[in-house]
Amino acid sequence: MEIVYKANNIITGVELINVFKSAGWNKNPEDILDAFKNSYYVTAYHNDTLVAFARAISDGYHYTGIYDVIVNPQYQKKGIAKEMMKMLLRKFKGTYFFLSYTEGNRDFYKKCGFEDLPTGMWIDREKSFNLDIDSL
Ligand SMILES: CC(C)(COP(=O)(O)OP(=O)(O)OC[C@H]1O[C@@H](n2cnc3c(N)ncnc32)[C@H](O)[C@@H]1OP(=O)(O)O)[C@@H](O)C(=O)NCCC(=O)NCCS
Repeated sequence: MEIVYKANNIITGVELINVFKSAGWNKNPEDILDAFKNSYYVTAYHNDTLVAFARAISDGYHYTGIYDVIVNPQYQKKGIAKEMMKMLLRKFKGTYFFLSYTEGNRDFYKKCGFEDLPTGMWIDREKSFNLDIDSL
């Protein structure tokens, strides 16, 4: 099966949403395309159909975050996600890489060279939306 990989190519919100949906993820079609355009993203195509993507937000020198690594289930276990991760690791080589993973995916990222971070913290999206910042 020939998979074609691209980076920061022209994509549509509908293509993105279709891949998210295939993996059971719901995203807002109104902001997801903008979010990708504000990121460095890599894509994977089979017969001109978007089947997978991954994206990074980086300052280009020090810090890179990896987000939304998604492969359509029909195309999983073929090395596509690892190849996309390699593209991001090459692009931002020499920076710190950070990510958070969903249940069951830790060992995939281990295979991509990631190690557990004992000193990480975060605020989840819903909490940051509702957070009373002035009362902190
Ligand atoms: C997680 C995901 C991106 C992996 O994509 P994939 O294309 O199937 O992964 P690859 O085929 O590139 O796998 C590379 C290696 O990691 C292994 N691997 C893949 N998913 C794994 C998992 N969840 N746990 C452990 N190992 C995993 C593969 O067996 C393969 O091992 P190998 O190199 O020894 O053969 C994919 O399952 C997916 O899209 N899941 C739904 C969305 C999601 O949860 N994304 C991650 C959010 S944190």
